[in-house]
Amino acid sequence: MESSFISTLVLLCILLVSHGASALPANKTALKQVVIINKKGPYLGVVVPNPFELGPLMVPGVFKPSVHIPFVDLGGRRFHIGRVADRKVIVVMTGLSMLNAGITTQQLLDFFAITGIVHYGIAGSTNSSLHVGDVTIPKFWSHTGLWNWQRFGQGPNDPLSLEVNGDFTRKLGFLHFGDNNVPEGSATNLLNNVWYQPEEIFPVTGTPEVRQHAFLVQVDPHFYGLSHQLKCDALQDLPLQSCINSTSCLSSKPKIVFDLHGASANVFLDNAAYRSFLSTKFSISLVDMESAAVALVSLQNEVPFIAIRSMSDLAGGSVHSNEAIVFGGLAAQNAVDVVVKFIKLLPK
Ligand SMILES: *[C@@H]1O[C@H](CO)[C@@H](O)[C@H](O)[C@H]1NC(C)=O
Ligand SMILES: *[C@@H]1O[C@H](CO)[C@@H](O)[C@H](O)[C@H]1NC(C)=O
Ligand SMILES: *[C@@H]1O[C@H](CO)[C@@H](O)[C@H](O)[C@H]1NC(C)=O
Repeated sequence: MESSFISTLVLLCILLVSHGASALPANKTALKQVVIINKKGPYLGVVVPNPFELGPLMVPGVFKPSVHIPFVDLGGRRFHIGRVADRKVIVVMTGLSMLNAGITTQQLLDFFAITGIVHYGIAGSTNSSLHVGDVTIPKFWSHTGLWNWQRFGQGPNDPLSLEVNGDFTRKLGFLHFGDNNVPEGSATNLLNNVWYQPEEIFPVTGTPEVRQHAFLVQVDPHFYGLSHQLKCDALQDLPLQSCINSTSCLSSKPKIVFDLHGASANVFLDNAAYRSFLSTKFSISLVDMESAAVALVSLQNEVPFIAIRSMSDLAGGSVHSNEAIVFGGLAAQNAVDVVVKFIKLLPK
């Protein structure tokens, strides 16, 4: 695997020299550096959404940059080469949302020799027993933003709609906007229904142009099993932060929670009704804007994946203003603390 990466990249360099291939998202120097970097690999990929989540990882003593080539810029992204907990890593920041997360994960896998992906960040809790500051290691991820929006007047079993949209669009369930009218049952709601659809995926070992469907994406069983070791030493050995200063503290001591179902979409959720819908309809405990994209790209590339997300807010579930404004930084720090602890469990 590793040597095929290297030969591909050597070939790329030769092509670049002979044809000056301008379509490639990199310059010659950067591609030559990629070859050198891969010779010293393979690496664990660490995929991070935003600057405030990247910050707490990139501090001295946590991330140790490579003395040879500390980073390389490719296709608009900076790939940081170095070590975390003495394990070789390549850290990359994606930017907000599904498209950025998906593209960047694919770039990471296309350019570098990567053995697995750890993704982390903050999230909104849609589960009443998950509190701000808690860190989750969910077992499943779903993209809940691929919709089939039904015209007004048609219902679940409308034959015409089924003929147009296909049977598979009816498998996961739907949101009926009228259920949220106040007072209940009051008026007609022209927004009607949206039906959730599974993503189309094209695995690297599948037949090109033959789609498969994926809604529930399970994290890597080996990574997931390893992460359960954090259960035992979490409280003694891993004090998660509870306070941002001497007066602002969380209402409960943060904990690490497993066995959950997380969801991602291009939506910053701060709405109690939709929060409650996701929880009752799909048993979703947390929402963010990237994890499912990283999970789906890892699945297609058949690369092990796990995500660690810390709760910054209740996704609209409390009467107070969104908690992320005050506790976003604390949540990001708690996620990083658990990520570092997880990386320590991996072989050197
Ligand atoms: C090409 O990549 C090298 C190494 O990463 C970098 O130092 C240089 O600034 C890049 N050149 C351009 C034109 O982007
Ligand atoms: C603690 O942080 C909160 C929220 O940012 C702020 O309102 C408060 O003034 C801070 N207290 C101290 C003692 O700095
Ligand atoms: C909510 O979280 C708790 C753990 O904090 C878990 O036991 C429960 O199953 C979760 N609810 C759902 C619907 O997943």
